[in-house]
Amino acid sequence: MAVRNREFDGDFDHLDPELSSVMNEALSALRDRCAVARSELYDGFWAALSYGAVRTAASDAQTYSSTGSTFIPPVKVDIQVAPSDYDPPEHTEFRKIIQKFFTRSGVAAVEAPLRSLVRARLVELAAAGKSDFVPGLGRYAPPLAIALAMGLPPEDGEKFVNWTTEMLSSAMAGDFSTNRRISKVMLDYAAQQLDARRDDGESAVITAIANGRVAGRPLTPTEKVGMIRGLVLAGNESAANSISTMLYHIATVAGLRERLIERPELIPSMIDESLRLESPLIGIGRTVVADTTLAGQSLRSGERLLFVFNSANHDPEIFPQPEEFQCPRDRNSHLAFGFGVHRCVGEHLALLQMRIIAEEVLRLVPDYRLDSEHPEWAPGRQFRGLARLPVTFPSRMRSTRGR
Ligand code: HEM
Repeated sequence: MAVRNREFDGDFDHLDPELSSVMNEALSALRDRCAVARSELYDGFWAALSYGAVRTAASDAQTYSSTGSTFIPPVKVDIQVAPSDYDPPEHTEFRKIIQKFFTRSGVAAVEAPLRSLVRARLVELAAAGKSDFVPGLGRYAPPLAIALAMGLPPEDGEKFVNWTTEMLSSAMAGDFSTNRRISKVMLDYAAQQLDARRDDGESAVITAIANGRVAGRPLTPTEKVGMIRGLVLAGNESAANSISTMLYHIATVAGLRERLIERPELIPSMIDESLRLESPLIGIGRTVVADTTLAGQSLRSGERLLFVFNSANHDPEIFPQPEEFQCPRDRNSHLAFGFGVHRCVGEHLALLQMRIIAEEVLRLVPDYRLDSEHPEWAPGRQFRGLARLPVTFPSRMRSTRGR
């Protein structure tokens, strides 16, 4: 065990099941000792803990490469995920294919259909009088949002998430034949969608990927699957976690719920503070490709580095009283969406989902109550999220009409 009495007893282990319940205190104690910590676990890696160290390294894709695997320990895959697993200049070309669909205005068309699906879901949940918001809303909305943003029928989002999850778990188990089988299913699905919209030009992510080009040539079938998979992998788990964590914060931070009801314009600041305080992606890895120095620590080519977002986002040099939920927080330049060329493509889609859910929950079931105020964080993963969030709805639901 690596965490004892809220201190790392030996090597830092971001996957230690014991870490989830003492995450912020343990990271704070370690960050006070060093900005970049060494761990001998998983064949050895460095952990960037301070805000400055994470931001500096994330800004330098020349020295810190994303090829190979961005997981620590590495996950061997047969299909490179794009754009995440590429460095510039290839990364820039892959990213350009999808970027325009994920700007603030690019995702605006998702709002109306997603809002009406979320409302209908809340009506269903409230009718039952109680729910678990993790499956109830957290895991419900992201597949719909991804499908809508990709220009696919919303009900197909779940299919993509299942395919992608199965591909990742089979790759982790070294079962590449399952990977190949699912790749083919995904490509057949994409081909069907393309047939149905041959004349649409590049009006949706799926058609842009199908017609995408890198280095002056069309994408190969494997690259197309890698791009679809990249979006679904990156867009599902973090978003699911961010939604449940936000609903936990609204219910437990003293006075927050009332303030948001009175001043809904504070919802975006609340969302940012929730992402800062409990960042959904704990860390992401890089491979050092040239000897360098980071926050005074010498790193050698070939070594691995983990950006620990949950530590950087609690750095007291940048965030005064980092353990407090402040809404609004002055200059909340958190790194929950990363930094530099790999900064999250889906940021605006994620913020949109969170805002719709916050607004609809506060409008339709504003007095939802948690069964327990103690968060039950899912242990031992690279993601920070609640295992369960059981709630009850004490009063009848407000009208769903209007707006
Ligand atoms: C609150 C929810 C989310 C969080 C906290 C989050 C966090 C992140 C972070 C930290 C990165 C940087 C990874 C790196 O530096 O290697 C990233 C990249 C990425 N995210 Fe998100 N993400 C979220 C939602 C989404 C959504 C909804 C989508 C799209 C459907 C998405 C798509 C991507 C993609 C494609 C990348 C790779 C970008 C690149 O390598 O250029 N993310 N995300």
